[in-house]
Amino acid sequence: MGRKDGGSVESTPEGDANREIGCNVLEQLRQLTSVDDITELRDRLGAILSSLSDGRNDILSECGETPPLTKSSLIRDIGQIMRSRTIERARYYLDRLIREFTESRKMGISDIDLNRWKEYGDIITDSLWLFKGRDRSGAHNGKYWGNFVPQIPYQLMRRFTKRGEWVLDPFLGSGTTLIECRRQERNGIGVELDQEIARIAVQNIEKEKNTGNVVTAVVKGDSTSIDYAELLGKFGIPSVQLVIMHPPYWDIIRFSNDERDLSNSPSAEHFLSRLSQISRNVAPFLDEGRYLALVIGDKYSGGEWIPLGFMAMNQVLPAGFRLKSIVVKNFDTTRGKMNRKELWRYRALAGGFYVFKHEYVFLFTRKG
Ligand SMILES: C[S@@+](CC[C@H](N)C(=O)[O-])C[C@H]1O[C@@H](n2cnc3c(N)ncnc32)[C@H](O)[C@@H]1O
Repeated sequence: MGRKDGGSVESTPEGDANREIGCNVLEQLRQLTSVDDITELRDRLGAILSSLSDGRNDILSECGETPPLTKSSLIRDIGQIMRSRTIERARYYLDRLIREFTESRKMGISDIDLNRWKEYGDIITDSLWLFKGRDRSGAHNGKYWGNFVPQIPYQLMRRFTKRGEWVLDPFLGSGTTLIECRRQERNGIGVELDQEIARIAVQNIEKEKNTGNVVTAVVKGDSTSIDYAELLGKFGIPSVQLVIMHPPYWDIIRFSNDERDLSNSPSAEHFLSRLSQISRNVAPFLDEGRYLALVIGDKYSGGEWIPLGFMAMNQVLPAGFRLKSIVVKNFDTTRGKMNRKELWRYRALAGGFYVFKHEYVFLFTRKG
């Protein structure tokens, strides 16, 4: 796993020692920029590497405005310079390493520092998300039938928001998004139709520490008709920077008896038109260029595979969005199907179909 944002070396004797080591290394690297001979450069880098081998702490130093560099990445980068065949290539890597120490290159929509891009081992950039199980750390629990794994909001917030920005979830359910908001120090507003589920969400969220003192508000309401201008106004904001939508997958799980609940839609057309309404309702309140994520899967009905995910995607696009990515995420056997795994396998063999093992995360950005 890689870094999490914003770590800094505490002012402890060990932290101070590491800071000194880091600043020394930086000074030595700067001196190397005037070396013309590749052999001399390699020798001097080798000496720096040896000087680093005895310290224990992996976090090295913050020299200047940038967050601390990890020792492992420094060692890796020095190795890369030493393997360069020409002095020009070595200088190129050396300059880049010095920039990693001293400069940040932020993207504007996240806290990711592109000068440290190799350090974000926890952030997925492939379109296939394979999670071994659900993250159960902190207040996260898998009790709500139909919740998503916390790794989904984690990935989305880390890549597409900065600390202190605002996330909106129009289908809050048990509160996973807002628990993750507290953990990632993002403000969050979640709308949930069902009173009882909203109450459980509040309970779940309150179990998570709120070290960043962010807002995590649960609002009982219908996302198709709720007045988002008024709702956001209550928090003194005109818009949000990320929307995460995890609607019911039409009628696969019935969440309530309320006819406004999307899971009670009498037909796929009705479900899709309600989803379209929600997308249009939310769109004006997402900042231009910012992300909306739609998490949804397909379903079977009457012996046919219904590509509900792609149908839903087509409802969001005309609401003012550009498609950025389609992520396929593995899907653990749901609690309902767990006991009937063998039966599903038999049915799949007999019926000539495949058992669902994936769902989608559609990623859109708001057009101007
Ligand atoms: C798939 S679940 C979301 C689960 C959530 N991501 C979590 O991790 O707990 C969908 C939720 O949308 C809610 N819902 C359905 N129709 C709604 C509507 N019109 N407005 C607001 N919430 C709605 C359901 O009650 C249900 O809790």
